[in-house]
Order: sequence, then structure tokens, then C-alpha cells
Amino acid sequence: MSKLTDMLGSKYPIIHGPIGAINSPELVAAVSEAGGYGMLALGFFKDPEHVKKLINDVKELTDKPFGANLMIMNPMNSVYLELLAEAGVKTVTTSVGSPSKIYPIIHDLGMNGLHVLLALNHAIKAEDSGADGLVLAGSEAGGFRSQNPESSTMVLVPTVTDRIDIPVVAAGGIADSRGYRAALALGAQGVQLGTRFLACEECPVHQNLKDAIIRCEDGGTGLVPVGRMMMRAILTPELKNELANPDIDLSTRFDPDKSYETWEKGDFSQMPAGAGAVSALIRDIKSVNEIIEEMVS
Ligand SMILES: Cc1cc2nc3c(=O)[nH]c(=O)nc-3n(C[C@H](O)[C@H](O)[C@H](O)COP(=O)(O)O)c2cc1C
Repeated sequence: MSKLTDMLGSKYPIIHGPIGAINSPELVAAVSEAGGYGMLALGFFKDPEHVKKLINDVKELTDKPFGANLMIMNPMNSVYLELLAEAGVKTVTTSVGSPSKIYPIIHDLGMNGLHVLLALNHAIKAEDSGADGLVLAGSEAGGFRSQNPESSTMVLVPTVTDRIDIPVVAAGGIADSRGYRAALALGAQGVQLGTRFLACEECPVHQNLKDAIIRCEDGGTGLVPVGRMMMRAILTPELKNELANPDIDLSTRFDPDKSYETWEKGDFSQMPAGAGAVSALIRDIKSVNEIIEEMVS
């Protein structure tokens, strides 16, 4: 057993990556039942009652370990951490922000935390701030990025594991057993999957998004400006035209508050279809169990 699987308590070191505020207790439980580490995505939640219900719903579906992702800037985190600790959650992940204030709270509650980040300098700071492990998201990963030049998973993981001692999880570009084995060979103790679990049977997103991932070819995703961030998304013909049009200021064109239009309605006109470069490897919708079984085979 690695230090990571000891922290997670799951059979396999395969973590369900948070996707904005998409929360399906069925999907979280399916990942945990299949031996992975299912995760609630609590980063954007403001209502503790809603969070309590989500936790209870997952616990009704599985007695296997599961966790949750928190956005560090969310003022409700200490309330959510208490609810998670009461529910027996052993390990959470933390995203976006400095980990120095939240890790003492996590540890006082007897939990562990893995901090999600994109670069070596932040990894060194996170270890110094008490993070128990790191999730390293390479530049091919789906979702938001900074505007800085960033390394791919293949480069980022060994660069960081050469310099720090806490366990590392590789995220970005992993969809099957080849990616899983490569991540372990690079020095990661586990993997986090975002795009592969978006295109699975249990994921509640609109079929248009799943179809867009399946149709995506090599080179079919790109970094799109959204506000002051960049987002890796599928380059639909409409988005390619907009990217090529110098008269359109894309940084003000999209509104992250409209992500639900993409996820629930399958309409990519208000927010791009966020997905990783690994979409090019995903050719069919599978169940969570099939994905995990193939990955560890
Ligand atoms: C549409 C989308 C939204 C995401 N939102 C979040 C988020 O809110 N918080 C977070 O920590 N990671 C987020 N991620 C990153 C995933 O949790 C995961 O680390 C990443 O997708 C892994 O790379 P992959 O897409 O190649 O599997 C998001 C990813 C996608 C595709």
C-alpha cells in the first residue's frame, strides 16, 4: 500500500476530478464502488444544507471511502470540512489559492489534504504549508489554467517529485491503462481523471458534451481566454472562427456563471465545452466500472 492509498483508503489510487459544481451522488458512489476515490465538488457551494444532503446521498449509495474538493477562497470551507469529518471523510483536495490557512483546519479535524496545482514553485510552497500530498495538473488537463507557460504532465510530475517528498497524484492526459501506468512510472502514486469521467455513463452532463469529447480528434482542444484565466476546451468550428477573429475579445466573451448552459443544456455558445486534450483518446462512453477495470488491468 502506498502512502497515497493509505490516505485515501480506496482500493486503487484513482481519484475522480472535480468538474466545477457538477455533483452526482450516483457518479461519486460509482467511482468509489469501482475501487476509485469518488469526489464531491464543493468549491462553488454556498449552502451547508445542500452539502449535507449531497454527503448523505453518497453515503446511502456506498460505504466505500469518498472525498470532496474545496476551493480555498470559499468562505464556507470550515463548515464543509466539519460536515465531511463527521461523515468519516479521510481526505479532501483543495484548489485555487494559498494552502497555508486551510491545512491547519484540515489537520485539526483529523483529515488529510491534497493540494491541486499547476507548477513546481507552488508545489514547493504547498509542501512547506503542510499539504499532505499534491495533485499536479499538467497543461493538457481540462478546465481552468493560468496564463503562465505551464508544463505537460509528462514534465511536471517528475520535475516536482524530484524536489518534494509528499505523495503526488498526476492529473491531465490520463484516460486508460497506458496513461495510468505512465503516471506511476513518472513517480506519481496515483492519478486524477477529469475528462474520462465526464464521458462516462453515470456522468449527468448533457449528451452534447459527451458527444463533443468522443468526436474530438488529435489537436481538437485548445486554451481559450475566459476572464483572466485560460480554459482548455474543445475547439468547435464556431469557437475556432471566434479565436481567429481579431475583432472579438474572447476574455470578455464567456461567462463562467453560464457553465450550466454547457453542462445541463449542451449549449456551448455561452461557455466553451471544457475538456482535456485526452478527449482525442476517448472514443466511447463507458461505465465507471469499465473505465477503472481497464485502467488497472
Ligand atoms: C470542464 C472542467 C471543469 C473543471 N473544474 C475544476 C474545478 O472546478 N476544480 C478543480 O480543482 N479542477 C477542475 N477541473 C480539473 C479536473 O478535476 C481534473 O484535474 C482534470 O480534468 C484532469 O485532466 P483530464 O481532463 O486530462 O483528465 C475541471 C476539468 C474540466 C474538464
